[in-house]
Amino acid sequence: MDSDVKSPERENSLNYWDKTWDGSQRDLSRNNIKTDDWLVDFNQIISSCDTPILDLGCGSGNDTLYLIQKGKRVISCDQSANAIENIRKNFPEIYDAKCFDMLDGLPFEDNSFQVVIADLCLHYFREKDLFALLDEIRRILTDKGYLIFRVNSINDKYHGAGEGAEIEHHLYETKDKRFKRFFDEADIQYFFKDFDIKYLNEETTGRYEREKILYRCLAKKK
Ligand SMILES: C[S@@+](CC[C@H](N)C(=O)[O-])C[C@H]1O[C@@H](n2cnc3c(N)ncnc32)[C@H](O)[C@@H]1O
Repeated sequence: MDSDVKSPERENSLNYWDKTWDGSQRDLSRNNIKTDDWLVDFNQIISSCDTPILDLGCGSGNDTLYLIQKGKRVISCDQSANAIENIRKNFPEIYDAKCFDMLDGLPFEDNSFQVVIADLCLHYFREKDLFALLDEIRRILTDKGYLIFRVNSINDKYHGAGEGAEIEHHLYETKDKRFKRFFDEADIQYFFKDFDIKYLNEETTGRYEREKILYRCLAKKK
């Protein structure tokens, strides 16, 4: 994976998310963290998981909170030190919280997790980086482990779909020079071909002020 020289996009992404999670734009205290119901359909998989669950790109911890409320051991991860500081402050019961850039690889042993959650954090990368990251996720998943994720849909018109220069097919440069990828179903089949896709649905989430269209997916390690 790219590791030595950080690209401007990586720096810009880190700065953007560190600012998002520094508490100046919204109240990030625990009472203000909201869960949503996107994981409910996968409750059986979640409840029968007896390894810790990895929450990749955890941000403010919406999914971390959901999993903690289900009594699970959660390892929350993000590139933003502010995000991880908030997680530790808001969720003293967290099993672990780690700050790292996923593009440098995932700092976990092979076959460590039965379930990895990646909510709206896999759509920022060039094709080669996303493939490398998905290989890493497969490496740390146990045999037949699950990756449960959501990514931007190409129809997500209120959140930048199709805006800015197209760097690669369906990967756009934002005004602040970060990358944002928008998927159609063929993209999902292409990128996740080394997983068995058990569930895939394009849907709208009410989590944001404006409607957000995304894909929700359950993928099993082959
Ligand atoms: C849209 S937020 C999603 C937060 C959370 N999963 C949720 O759905 O509420 C995307 C998160 O992914 C993180 N992220 C983006 N690129 C990353 C990378 N290369 N390594 C680690 N985290 C990254 C960001 O810092 C940010 O917190």
